[in-house]
Amino acid sequence: MLFKEINFNYAWGFPQKGLLTGLDFRLKSSYNESINMVKITLKTLKNRVQKEIKKTDNLKELNAIFNKYLGKRGEITQILRSLEKLPKTKRVKVGRKANEIKNFLSIKLDQKAQEIKEKLKKETEEKEWIDITVPGKKPLLGYLHPLTQVRRKIEEIFQAMGFSVVEGPEIETEWYNFDALNIPKDHPARDLWDTFYLKNGLLLRTHTSPVQVRYMEKNNPPLRIIVPGSVFRHEATDPSHEFQLYQVEGLMVDKKVSVANFKAIIEEFFQRFFKKAVKSRLRPDFFPFTEPSFDVGISCLICQGKGCPTCKGTGFLEMAGAGMVHPAVFKNSGLNPKNWQGWAFGFGLERLAMMKYKINDIRLFRSGDLRFLNQF
Ligand code: DAH
Repeated sequence: MLFKEINFNYAWGFPQKGLLTGLDFRLKSSYNESINMVKITLKTLKNRVQKEIKKTDNLKELNAIFNKYLGKRGEITQILRSLEKLPKTKRVKVGRKANEIKNFLSIKLDQKAQEIKEKLKKETEEKEWIDITVPGKKPLLGYLHPLTQVRRKIEEIFQAMGFSVVEGPEIETEWYNFDALNIPKDHPARDLWDTFYLKNGLLLRTHTSPVQVRYMEKNNPPLRIIVPGSVFRHEATDPSHEFQLYQVEGLMVDKKVSVANFKAIIEEFFQRFFKKAVKSRLRPDFFPFTEPSFDVGISCLICQGKGCPTCKGTGFLEMAGAGMVHPAVFKNSGLNPKNWQGWAFGFGLERLAMMKYKINDIRLFRSGDLRFLNQF
């Protein structure tokens, strides 16, 4: 029998307040029947609720079940309320039964709620489980580019010998890049340092040598500086040529400065840089801004001067251009060449790095290729 019908019967059996007095004699026979109906209804409800409780697996539904049957307007609550209208003896009997069922179902609901909560807890515990014994992931930290590492090493060595690190502009005037260094407009040496000219008449410096003049204009000797920085060349690239590279310029000026001083400093530097015993060799060369000028070689790092393919059998590697500062350069810097002597050098930083790490192509440095970079 459908619950609605049962409900109907029971409503019919227990008329609304005020009609109760007539009930006993008016509906004597159907009265007992109604009591039985209530019992049946309660039993049916009990089974149904139990089934519903069993079927549900979430708290929301469970709450709905509670409200539907045991809540303020719940079906069982309503039955219990309607019992008030029964005579005391019947009321106690049916009431006890009804309360039993109510309590029984309350407990069932509580148990189920507990079960669902446990299950939820277990699920989240499983989902959020962390194995604290698994070793952590190392964050990917960047590191310094090999050229930066080499530059810092060079700076460190020269600073330890009393040199200051100075920088100059990468966009230069023709005056500082050429004229001030004793390379006038028609001088064939300009071809050697061909560069990129900007529309406003400035140019990308081809060497760090202009900083010699810039520094001497503003600082009185004695002075010892190195100038690391980018330089640019109008050049076709190949394994040993790039159109952009780093140079390190060196300059020492004092009352009495000699080639011997230069040799001592440069040998000391190479030994500290390569961490090997190094011999240097000076050969005559030509630069417009030094007189005399020389080419600086060091004993080959591979064969220690015996001769090998790397040094083309000469036992020496060319490392830098150098010389005694030309009087014209002193004059252009505002210093009297009669009062001062100085030596200067310039070398390519990439070349130094290539020798240290045995790199055979200068273009690798700016290739951005991680297979190359990750080795440093
Ligand atoms: N500036 C020269 C170049 O780029 C290198 C050089 C040679 C620098 C001799 C000097 C020097 O200071 O004295 O090729």
